[in-house]
Amino acid sequence: MSSCADSHVNFHVLTLFPEMVSQGLSASVTGRAFEKGIISLETINIRDYTLSKHKKVDDYPYGGGAGMLMQAQPVYDAFRATVDRINESGGDGEKARVIYVTPQGRCFRQDMAKEFAGERDLIFLCGHYEGIDERVLEEIVTDYVSIGDYVLTGGELPAMVMIDAISRMVPGVLKNSESAEIESFGNYLLEYPQYSRPEEWRGKRVPEILLSGNHEKVEEWRLEQSLERTRRLRPELYEKWTAENQEYFIKKAKREERARRKALKQKKALGVP
Ligand code: ADE
Repeated sequence: MSSCADSHVNFHVLTLFPEMVSQGLSASVTGRAFEKGIISLETINIRDYTLSKHKKVDDYPYGGGAGMLMQAQPVYDAFRATVDRINESGGDGEKARVIYVTPQGRCFRQDMAKEFAGERDLIFLCGHYEGIDERVLEEIVTDYVSIGDYVLTGGELPAMVMIDAISRMVPGVLKNSESAEIESFGNYLLEYPQYSRPEEWRGKRVPEILLSGNHEKVEEWRLEQSLERTRRLRPELYEKWTAENQEYFIKKAKREERARRKALKQKKALGVP
């Protein structure tokens, strides 16, 4: 891994639709991070690198079949130009990870986002039509990654999804108030429910515990809510969390036992049968 002390990540996206990617990421949190220079985005139009007179980048697949394929030459030359630019900027373009976004890849997950956020340069390759000539993929791709078991019309949206998720793992991209949450529960639990003003809306009150001012109790309640939600909606994530956090349940059982004994003692002292 070519990690960088200041954690700056440069995204390079090889695509036939550069505006789609640059415009999509220019708003909100990623846009703010580009402006602050914590991350950067370079879009490379694969069509600019075709040697064909008519700017063609696709052709029929040998052996027949539906649809067109992106040809090896423009993809490879766009890639080489990107590697050269990374080298010129002080990076190691030959070692940069090249992520081909494809439904045939490994499924993208939070831990992958975290891992990719440690790289200096990441090259994304977005396919279109029925795919890309296998020979260039063999030559340049290091990671085949999917964002889920469904097929989209191109790789731009998946690349944007991944860039967004990776960016928020880069130190400084999220404000402290936005990032605090992530660390406390680790990766596997779903968010607890949140409420803002007013205290009552359409007859529904904010849970009393959140108005109590007891920070410790609020944290406990939030964790319980997260656990309950995860157990109900994502049992496989719940299993993972419980396997890695056995001590939480041991502490909880001890706490409950202490509370039970205390209540019993109080009952006895009051002479309650
Ligand atoms: N390209 C088309 N569909 C995709 C998906 N689900 N994930 C990644 N890349 C894709």
